[in-house]
Amino acid sequence: MSRIYKAAPLPFQGQKRFFVESYKKALIEMNQTKEIKIIVDLFGGSGLLSHTAKQVLPECQVIYNDFDNYHQRIKNIPKTNLLLEDLRELAKDEPQDKRISDAVKARLEDRIRAEEQKVGYIDYITISGSLLFSGNYANSFEELAKQRFYNTVRKSNYEPADGYLEGLDILRQDYRVLYERYKNIEGVVFIIDPPYLSTDVSTYSNYWKLADYLDVLGTLKGSSFVYFTSNKSQIVELLDWFNINYNMDSPFTGAKRVERRNVVNNQGGYTDIMMYKR
Ligand SMILES: C[S@@+](CC[C@H](N)C(=O)[O-])C[C@H]1O[C@@H](n2cnc3c(N)ncnc32)[C@H](O)[C@@H]1O
Repeated sequence: MSRIYKAAPLPFQGQKRFFVESYKKALIEMNQTKEIKIIVDLFGGSGLLSHTAKQVLPECQVIYNDFDNYHQRIKNIPKTNLLLEDLRELAKDEPQDKRISDAVKARLEDRIRAEEQKVGYIDYITISGSLLFSGNYANSFEELAKQRFYNTVRKSNYEPADGYLEGLDILRQDYRVLYERYKNIEGVVFIIDPPYLSTDVSTYSNYWKLADYLDVLGTLKGSSFVYFTSNKSQIVELLDWFNINYNMDSPFTGAKRVERRNVVNNQGGYTDIMMYKR
């Protein structure tokens, strides 16, 4: 039996690791009448929700929209491990978790540049997790090199994750194209986890404006869905308000809601929300 992942095998900002258990329960509940045939993960990200769906409902077709080419990062884990081994060695005399000296930073950069020339593929997001201040990410050599380096180089290699994407149909399309293709098919459930409006979007290719965020609501109308948002976006409150004051239909009417509080620091935090409806 293949391994069940509780978190994405490689770093991915915005992965729904803390929702995996509630999400599993929601899928099982939605499939009580065994009517789900296809699960379309419109904003696949790390693929964690696609992976989980395939484990919970193995008889369903699961479509993972890999907009960020995460599967390439998974495929290249052995190369990433080799590079990290060298970076670990180069940084070994630098104090743990502290800023890396300019001299050692220059040597690390030389090694990364050589990798780019020789191997051609570098998983910059994973490398960022080992060299940059917590939560900072780079997508290219230039973005990486202009930041300060910290000795947070991972101590052990990443495990190969060959089974993680097993059984998934992987494609890469704008979510609207995919939605149009599947919206009228029987037994489809859409997994809808768009980039957060007010989150740090530095690791995503595009920046999302309010209009982009509202456009996504179009995919909820008349669909079976599992939708993720946070109280930071206030989207659920906004639709409730229109519903109460203007009697406007809300796609969330009749949906079930699960919340998870995130404490960021002692100043407070925010609440992640999962809404689902069959
Ligand atoms: C919040 S993340 C999804 C996280 C995912 N559920 C997970 O658990 O890893 C949103 C994703 O939507 C992707 N995205 C951005 N614009 C998109 C578009 N037009 N169509 C499809 N996906 C898009 C982003 O690149 C990002 O991977």
